[in-house]
Parts: sequence; structure tokens; C-alpha cells
Amino acid sequence: MILFVCLGNICRSPMAEFVMRDLISREKLNFQVMSAGTGGYHDGEDMHPKTRETLRRQKINPDGFVSKKLTADMCGRACLIIVMDQSNKKDVLRMFPSMAEKVRILTDFIPESGYTEVPDPWYTGNFDETYRLVSAACPKILAERKG
Ligand code: 4NP
Repeated sequence: MILFVCLGNICRSPMAEFVMRDLISREKLNFQVMSAGTGGYHDGEDMHPKTRETLRRQKINPDGFVSKKLTADMCGRACLIIVMDQSNKKDVLRMFPSMAEKVRILTDFIPESGYTEVPDPWYTGNFDETYRLVSAACPKILAERKG
């Protein structure tokens, strides 16, 4: 299982989860994908309306999402924990120190992007930037898992 983690689990990691699900189904692969937030501020809520809108514009169905706080069980089931920024990484390592070897930052898979973190659209308002980074990284993440 590939686990995407951000702070609120309503913007970046749900977008990554749904882009990855779409890729996996188009390639007829059999990977599990989940996402969660370190904060849990939006537990039980849908993803951000602009995350939904951004996915829709890319012809990805955003329905059926429920925001969740990260748990030890999720981390244990994951083979890879992909976080969005340094702050997420610090939080995950503080919460679940034994998971350190599974944790990677999404932008590590796209060094050519020039980004070292995925900026948080909750603050920047730029959901297209999130989509660009996530959609560039997902095939690379999958290629590493397949290979
Ligand atoms: P995300 O963005 O981590 O990409 O889901 C955020 C969403 C909500 C909050 C912070 C970041 N918040 O503080 O509620």
C-alpha cells in the first residue's frame, strides 16, 4: 500500500491519492493507495472543494473521499509513506519514529521540477501547482514500486 500524507488531508494528499488511483486503474495494476493527515483537523470531511474541482477538470472522479488522521496501523500497512513537505516529515517521524525508512518527500521523485516540497494550496490557493507536481511524481513513484 502506498500512503500519501499531508497536514490536513483535504488538499494535497487526497489529490495525490486520486491521481495515483486513476493511474493504477488505467495501467490495470493492483496497488492499494490511501491518504491521511498528520493534523486530523478535518476528520470525516470531504476533500477541499478546489481539490475536487481540480480533479474533475482532469476527468478524475473525486467522489467517495473521507478525510482521516494518520494512524500507526496505516503506517504499518504502507510500503511507502509519501509526505508533501519537511514539516509533514518531521511530524510523521515524531508520531511514528519506527517508520523512518518508509518516509519520502513527493518532490524527491521529481528533482527536475526544482521543488523540494509541495507548497500547501490551503495557504497559496494554487491547486494547479499541486496537480502539476503530484501528476508528475505519481508515474515515477509507481515505476519504482513496479521495478
Ligand atoms: P493539506 O492542506 O495539508 O494539503 O490538506 C491543509 C488543509 C487544512 C489545513 C492545513 C493545511 N488546516 O490548517 O486546516
